[in-house]
Amino acid sequence: MPSSRPGKVRVKTDPKLLIEKGLLLERRAADGPLDLAALFGNSRPVEVEIGPGKGTFVLRRAQERPEMNFLAVEWVMPYAAYVADRAMRAGLENVRLISADAEQLFKKALADKSVWRLHVYFPDPWPKTKHHRRRLIKPPFVAQIHRVLQIGGQVSVVTDHEEYFAQVQRVFDHQRGLIQLAVPTPTGPSGYVGTNFEKKYLAGGRSFFALSAIRYR
Ligand SMILES: C[S@@+](CC[C@H](N)C(=O)[O-])C[C@H]1O[C@@H](n2cnc3c(N)ncnc32)[C@H](O)[C@@H]1O
Repeated sequence: MPSSRPGKVRVKTDPKLLIEKGLLLERRAADGPLDLAALFGNSRPVEVEIGPGKGTFVLRRAQERPEMNFLAVEWVMPYAAYVADRAMRAGLENVRLISADAEQLFKKALADKSVWRLHVYFPDPWPKTKHHRRRLIKPPFVAQIHRVLQIGGQVSVVTDHEEYFAQVQRVFDHQRGLIQLAVPTPTGPSGYVGTNFEKKYLAGGRSFFALSAIRYR
């Protein structure tokens, strides 16, 4: 297991109810094409977050952007259910959770040019060399990111792990069709994205590394 987990959660609603309501999708929904317009009941642009943990980022962003849809993919079911429950309680109608492996979702379920923005914040760094192959950001996955992004769509990655970030940069440098943007270092105490891990690491005085890229063809 990765060294870092978002911590314990208590889901107040029976996950079965969240599934019945269509707010939470099970792993098998990532086995074949996913109709995003049917999932949300409209054709608004879709933002995807990989690994939302307890969901602080995606819930805040969904609240601030009711004109967008948000699909968060989190492979630990209790976290996915927890975030879906929080979204329901907050009355957010533009959030859906899928408890699946992001690699599977991208490879099998998301259509070409179907995603407007992709957020990947504090992905598991798998620091031991023998575990590096488990890292999410590797060439085949970044090729999938390119495929699912719309032209003009953007992907953002933030990590506290310098060596993983060097790998992230290398892989993005080699992916055709994506151009990297300059990401200014945040000056205030809020960091880049305000996720739980970022808050924890900020308090510990860690440095962060960020990359954003746009699909231009
Ligand atoms: C280190 S935590 C970061 C959580 C949150 N983004 C934050 O910054 O507070 C990484 C999260 O990604 C999830 N995760 C890791 N690999 C994943 C994958 N391949 N597919 C879906 N979720 C994944 C983990 O279960 C965990 O919730």
